[in-house]
Amino acid sequence: MTTLIKNIQELLQVRETSIPKVSGTNMRHLPTIKNAYLLLDDDTIVGFGSMDDCKNIDADTIIDATGKLVLPAWCDSHTHIVYAGNREQEFVDRINGLSYEDIANRGGGILNSAEKLQNTSEEDLYQQSANRLKQVIAQGTGAIEIKSGYGLTVEAELKMLRVIKRLKRDFSVKIKATLLAAHAVPTAYKNNKTAYVDLIINELIPRVANEQLAKYIDVFCEKGYFNLTDTQRILEAGTMHGLTPKIHVNQFNAFGGIEVAVKNNALSVDHLEELQDADIKHLQQSNTMPVALPSCSYFLSIPYTPGRKLIDAGLPLALASDYNPGSTPSGNMNFVVSTACIKMKLTPEEAINAATINGAYAMGVSNMYGSITRGKKANLIITKPIPSYAFLPYAFGDNHIETVLINGVKAN
Ligand code: NIG
Ligand code: FE
Repeated sequence: MTTLIKNIQELLQVRETSIPKVSGTNMRHLPTIKNAYLLLDDDTIVGFGSMDDCKNIDADTIIDATGKLVLPAWCDSHTHIVYAGNREQEFVDRINGLSYEDIANRGGGILNSAEKLQNTSEEDLYQQSANRLKQVIAQGTGAIEIKSGYGLTVEAELKMLRVIKRLKRDFSVKIKATLLAAHAVPTAYKNNKTAYVDLIINELIPRVANEQLAKYIDVFCEKGYFNLTDTQRILEAGTMHGLTPKIHVNQFNAFGGIEVAVKNNALSVDHLEELQDADIKHLQQSNTMPVALPSCSYFLSIPYTPGRKLIDAGLPLALASDYNPGSTPSGNMNFVVSTACIKMKLTPEEAINAATINGAYAMGVSNMYGSITRGKKANLIITKPIPSYAFLPYAFGDNHIETVLINGVKAN
C-alpha cells in the first residue's frame, strides 16, 4: 500500500542519510525541500524530492498538500502521562501563594499523585493514560517516552509499567518506558530513605529488567529528594541490569548531578533550569543530550533552561513536554516549540530540530524517527495551509495541525 503526498509547500527536516542528532551551530540549519513530494510504502518513508521529479510516480492513495507543510511528528522524550487524577487544587494553592516546595513539604505533590495512583485500578489507570496518549498524538506526537514514578511501592511501580506495556501493544506510536521509582521518598520511608533506595536497587530494578518493563532508569536528583550518592547507586544498579540512565537534574538546584549522570553515560539529562559552567564542561565531554522542558518553567514560574547558552557552547539540545499532573499538565509539543522560541530565544530551526531529531536521540530512537529519511517510519504532521514554518511557533496557541500520520495511517 503506497501513499503519495504531493504539492507540499515545504517538506521539513529532510535528511538524505540518518544522523543521530544535531549540535551547536548545525541546529540553526533545518534542511527542507520546497514544492515537494513524499512517498510512503505502508509504514515507511521510501522517497521524497521536488515535484519536478514526481511526474511518473503513482500510488494507491494520493494526498494533496497544496499550501501545507509536512514534517516529522514530534518526538517527546520526557513524559509522565501514566498518572491518576489531577492536582488542580495545588495549582490554585500556588496561585494563592504557596510554592511547589511548600506543597511537597506538606505531603502534596508527587506523594499526592502516588496516593491517588495506589488507589486506582490498573484498568482505570490504563483508560486515563490512553486518553492522554490519544490527545498528544492528535497534537502531533509520534514517539514518546513514558516514566513510572507515581507508584512508589514495588507493586504500584510495576502497575504503572504494565500500563505502559499495554499502551505499547495498543497504539502504533513509538513508546519507550523508564523506571523512575526514585521520584520521591514515600511516606513509609520518610525517616529511612536509604532503605527505599535499597528496595529500588535490590527488588525493583532486577524485576523490571527481568520482565523487560523498562529500557531507561531515572532519578529525581534534587535537594529533598535524592542526593548524588543515591543517584550514583541507582544509576549503577540500573546499568548493571541493562537500563540506560536518563535523569531529572538541576531543576531547582545545581550541585553536581550532571557530572554523575555523564560519568554514568546518561543518554539525557533533563530540566537544567539551574546550570553552572562546570555542567556545560561535563556535557561537552559526553554524548549526553541536554533536554529542556519549557512548559514546566511556564507552569511553575521558574527559570527557563538556558538553551541558548547550551547551543552556543556547541552542545545539542532537545525539547520535551514533561507532561505530568504537578508541574506540567500539558503534553502539547506545539506549545513547547513556541515557548522555546519565545522564552528561550531558540530560532524556529533550532526548536524544530530540538523537538524532532534531538528528541528522538534523547529516547534512543533517532535511527527510525525524527527526520524525513528513507527507511524511517512514516510518523508525520501535515499542517493546515500556513505561510511558512516560522508561523508554527509564531502563532502560538492555535492548532496548525490538519493531519497526523502514525506508521503511514491517519491518527487524528
Ligand atoms: O519532571 N521534577 C520531578 N518530576 C516532575 C514533576 C512531578 C510532579 O510534581 O508530579 C517534573 O517536573
Ligand atoms: Fe519530569
